[in-house]
Amino acid sequence: VSTDLVLDPRSYGYHENPFDHYRRLREEAPLYWNDELQFWALSRYEDVAQASADWRSFCSGAGVTLRGPHRPPQMISQDPPRHTVLRSLVRKSFTARSVGRLELDIRGLCRHLLEDLGDRRTFDCISEYAELVPMAVISWVLGMDDGGDVKFHQLMNRFLHRTPGTSEPTADGLAAEAEALTYITGLLDDPQATRPHSLVRAIGTAARDEVISRPEAIGMVFQLLIAGFETTKKLVGNAIVALHRAPAQRALILGDPALIANAIEETLRFDGPTPHMFRTATAEATRYGRTIREGDKVMLLFASANRDERRWPQPDVFDVTRDTRGHVGFGHGIHLCLGAALARLEARIALEVFLKRFAEFNIVESRRSHTDNNRGFSRLTIETNG
Ligand code: HEM
Repeated sequence: VSTDLVLDPRSYGYHENPFDHYRRLREEAPLYWNDELQFWALSRYEDVAQASADWRSFCSGAGVTLRGPHRPPQMISQDPPRHTVLRSLVRKSFTARSVGRLELDIRGLCRHLLEDLGDRRTFDCISEYAELVPMAVISWVLGMDDGGDVKFHQLMNRFLHRTPGTSEPTADGLAAEAEALTYITGLLDDPQATRPHSLVRAIGTAARDEVISRPEAIGMVFQLLIAGFETTKKLVGNAIVALHRAPAQRALILGDPALIANAIEETLRFDGPTPHMFRTATAEATRYGRTIREGDKVMLLFASANRDERRWPQPDVFDVTRDTRGHVGFGHGIHLCLGAALARLEARIALEVFLKRFAEFNIVESRRSHTDNNRGFSRLTIETNG
């Protein structure tokens, strides 16, 4: 491996354009070792899909980031049987059928947010649109009446931000996390704070009945809030950017809005909000003549798998008519994104409503957000004439 091939997930330059790195990794080092940060990386589609499906050999229980398992515990960093207990508890609330009931409300919310802009021709489509949708929607799903008021999304933005060259939250970020956890504890303890028969109440009841522990209940609400918010907002932003850069694709969609659902899938493949997750090897494994030892960290590069020329024709072309089946933008295997149906619904409607109002738009300023494992924008200033 040439020494100039460095995969550093903390680097702002890498956040800007990871795709050249991925291409070289797939070609030159399909099993790559980062000596400084002590992790392996798999970048080819077959390898990422295979390791994601094999949770016994590549487990999540020791954490899915370089920081170790989440505290309080979350299903994403648990293995069976605990993972099964946690996921089963909330699974039904996230089926396509359950979330489909929210379609009209989501559409109403998206329209309302754009109507609120009045005659303005310039706005930030992240903080004034894309970020407000998932926050409100996950609050409805959880049954928190004041989800919009607590400015939870600002706490999350602070918690997720990383300064250059670090993978740890800032002191301000940790303070925001503590505030969020205190708020969640309050929600679980105060019957007035959530609706009867709501998901938060069900999670609280499961803790009182000792089906799950109290830290698991807090971790569950925290994860549902954070996972549903950050990624969906980025998916909408990344889709808007991709369509801005590919006017011919935008024209296709404007001519046939039924393509929007697949444009969202293509965005998940082409520029998905969750580029990677880590696993830990539970036994020795050999790939490409090199040995992964038990206990080693292994990065699964979903975003690289989704651009693998061995799997996708013309992988670097954004094509809203492509057969996107099999992309790993929501992961793969037992941890396949629990909120996939909800994210698809929200993103599709947010994009439909946006394009209906603004067939023509320009992006006049963009600012990338810098987090541990999410890819997307914290600011996208849009200029429109309509
Ligand atoms: C575009 C939006 C989203 C993307 C790209 C995304 C991506 C992912 C990915 C890649 C994983 C797998 C992690 C792994 O294998 O270690 C995952 C898991 C998960 N996602 Fe999402 N997600 C999105 C939206 C949501 C939403 C709206 C929710 C709603 C609550 C959600 C909740 C979860 C949960 C709970 C898990 C853990 C599942 C498990 O461990 O069994 N996600 N997501």
